[in-house]
Amino acid sequence: MNLTRTKAIEQSIQDTEEPTHQLRRELSALDLTVFGIGVIIGTGIFVLTGEAAGVQAGPAVALSFVVSGVVCGLAALCYAEFASTVPVAGSAYTFSYATLGEIVAWIIGWDLILELALGGATVASGWSTYFADLAKEAGITLPKSIYSDGHNLVAAAIVLILTGVICLGIKVSSKINAVIVAIKLAIVLFVIIAGLFFIKTSNYSPFIPPSGSPGAKSTAPDAGSLLSDIGLSAGGPFGVAGIFTAAALVFFAFIGFDIVATAAEETKNPQRDMPRGILGSLAICTVLYVAVSLVVTGMVKYNKIKVDAPLAEAFRSVGKPTFATIISIGALAGLTTVMMILMIGQSRVFFAMARDGLLPSIFSNVSQRTGTPTATTITTGVVVAAMAALLPLEELAALVNIGTLFAFILVAIAVLILRRKRPDLPRSFHTPFVPVLPILSVLASFYLMLNLPSSTWLRFVVWMVVGFVVYFFYGYGHSRLGRGYAGETRRPEQARSG
Ligand code: ALA
Repeated sequence: MNLTRTKAIEQSIQDTEEPTHQLRRELSALDLTVFGIGVIIGTGIFVLTGEAAGVQAGPAVALSFVVSGVVCGLAALCYAEFASTVPVAGSAYTFSYATLGEIVAWIIGWDLILELALGGATVASGWSTYFADLAKEAGITLPKSIYSDGHNLVAAAIVLILTGVICLGIKVSSKINAVIVAIKLAIVLFVIIAGLFFIKTSNYSPFIPPSGSPGAKSTAPDAGSLLSDIGLSAGGPFGVAGIFTAAALVFFAFIGFDIVATAAEETKNPQRDMPRGILGSLAICTVLYVAVSLVVTGMVKYNKIKVDAPLAEAFRSVGKPTFATIISIGALAGLTTVMMILMIGQSRVFFAMARDGLLPSIFSNVSQRTGTPTATTITTGVVVAAMAALLPLEELAALVNIGTLFAFILVAIAVLILRRKRPDLPRSFHTPFVPVLPILSVLASFYLMLNLPSSTWLRFVVWMVVGFVVYFFYGYGHSRLGRGYAGETRRPEQARSG
């Protein structure tokens, strides 16, 4: 068995030109940045800030956002080099195929399902809660049975509606995204500016509450980190360790800049614009997050924060319920684009895997009319809707983080390998300080993974084992590379064996 066969970069790029498997190059640097912001700002800042500040880090949650932002910045610099050098749909999957070999590529494609499909379902579940709250304010009370974990029909419905939108084409999705991102940004800026007037500096002290201080009422499933379970860290709540536990939690808020890379094949000038889109969206969101978290913990004492809707409740607590409603509308709109783009990312990864033969080829067909991979988009939508409707998502949400961090690790390693193996490739963006920066990126991502609960690790390992089984029963035998592109017109020697 040849599990480490790698696909030549040239072959990956050539595959993007096959007429029936060709996506449309329609996105600019600005579109990509807006895309990035559309998927990055969501549940993380609107919801998780509450748990992170109230229960784990106190006002120092701003530092947790900085820590998480730095970890993501390191990864983003690696993604930027890859996405501009190999502008092919599939992101970490495609990069791994070109460097670490087919089995790793498969594993990372499988792993990305956790980030993209499970992430989409998780956000859909948050969306349904906001939707029900707003409907209630408008006088319509939805029965809890249609939007609670395990039978969430509202979440499934919004996922299916968005699937329809995605099928209309990347340009339509990107226009809708732009409008919603404008609303979302306006509301985040509103929180920051309006909130400034209600800050009481006494709320910042203690900035890092001592370990063991009483916190806000948590609603999260009770779970320590793997590090604390094996006795290597006191873990949260509070104290310096709490800053890192919270960083692993709010990492979810940054997920998305990497998804910009999945649109590489739909970008007009990926060499120039991919790094701009990836780094630009991450930088903007990091600044906004730190500002929002400082404002919210300045408005409300950390142990009085309402963990379910921290931003809206902060304004209610200072006697501004109308502001709270505006924020809830912003959150609802914001989460909509997060879901949409996570699903676009997922369908592009499936598309790339199917084009390589690792999934059934129907998933790599592109509609001539809309330029979208319709079969894979619809399948993705149905799968995400089913997950959103049926899974106990509150328990599974941390799997999204672990899956994403694992992808970051592989991409950083892949940058190092590609520099060694193919120094000749034209690179329009160079990750700085190689090899130090990618190595730091690996260590930092791994450290955040260790801060996730042991139960998450266990589920992650089980998911990966299932992935191996699927690969051996399907992918290995169907791989186009494995079959030497048999019966196809291209020259098989272009597909190098690693
Ligand atoms: N970063 C996205 C969010 O916070 C996934 O919702």
